[in-house]
Amino acid sequence: MIFYFSGTGNSAWAARSLADNLNEKLVSIAEALQKNDTLYNILQEESVGFVFPTYGWDIPPIVRTFITCLSLQYQDKKGISRHKNMLDSTYIYFVTTCGDDTGKLLKRVRQAFTLRNLHIDSAWTIVMPDSYVCLPGFDVDSDKLKESKLSAAPQRLQMIATHIKRKQRGVFDVHPGHFPYTKTYILGGLFRHYLMDDKPFHTKDSCTQCGICVDVCPTKNIIIGTEGPHWQNQCTMCLACYHHCPSHAIAYGKQTKHKGQYLHPEAPRTKRA
Ligand SMILES: Cc1cc2nc3c(=O)[nH]c(=O)nc-3n(C[C@H](O)[C@H](O)[C@H](O)COP(=O)(O)O)c2cc1C
Ligand code: SF4
Ligand code: SF4
Repeated sequence: MIFYFSGTGNSAWAARSLADNLNEKLVSIAEALQKNDTLYNILQEESVGFVFPTYGWDIPPIVRTFITCLSLQYQDKKGISRHKNMLDSTYIYFVTTCGDDTGKLLKRVRQAFTLRNLHIDSAWTIVMPDSYVCLPGFDVDSDKLKESKLSAAPQRLQMIATHIKRKQRGVFDVHPGHFPYTKTYILGGLFRHYLMDDKPFHTKDSCTQCGICVDVCPTKNIIIGTEGPHWQNQCTMCLACYHHCPSHAIAYGKQTKHKGQYLHPEAPRTKRA
């Protein structure tokens, strides 16, 4: 079983490719939370994977919430539920997609999992096109860099799938980058405090009120009123609304002026009638 979250499609692509490769069931974290579906039966020999983007050198808030609510129940071949300690032998891994590096994300995930009596056997990073645009100096990648990241990703994913198929334990092939502690705990702390906030979102005159941002928001955080979209303070900062807007009409304060948009080539392009 693979639980995944994605804003702009990179992690959705990675999760789907892994699921196809490993013949695993896919569960969308956003949909599961909407439906309050947090109890899952894990069959004997089944692996459990988590695929999600790195946000502020940390776990996206929506993924953290899901882990906090998640209940995994182990079943034997006859479908009989067993004591949860049986999960100790289940192979559990995560794959995070990121634009550059992940800082101390591995430690943060371990801490979140430990609180739920879960362990991590292995973890990998896949560097993919960057989706973050809400700070000065942060923008989507140039076409050249985007293409080179997208063309390297399938090979890396194949390598990861091979490790998972063999249930290889103790492979922690992540990209902490330089100054990982500073990134996750100091910059990331500021990021979580000040920049996981949807108040700066607003629309420009080019908004046609098409409603696509409403449809793509994984937390159902946007409603359209008489004056256009409003953000409801339930944001996980995935930027799906910003990147999907066909009129490029969403801005984040003044930070997104002249910034680009990005969606993974396989991300569904939502259309409204
Ligand atoms: C709010 C936010 C924070 C981000 N923080 C990081 C980061 O700390 N390190 C990094 O390398 N990429 C960061 N990124 C880039 C994404 O991790 C990367 O583009 C990822 O592949 C997007 O996945 P998705 O398309 O599945 O949403 C961030 C993106 C967003 C939207
Ligand atoms: S997707 Fe863009 S154009 Fe459509 S309603 Fe949202 S902000 Fe307006
Ligand atoms: S409001 Fe936009 S950034 Fe926030 S969760 Fe919804 S789609 Fe993502």
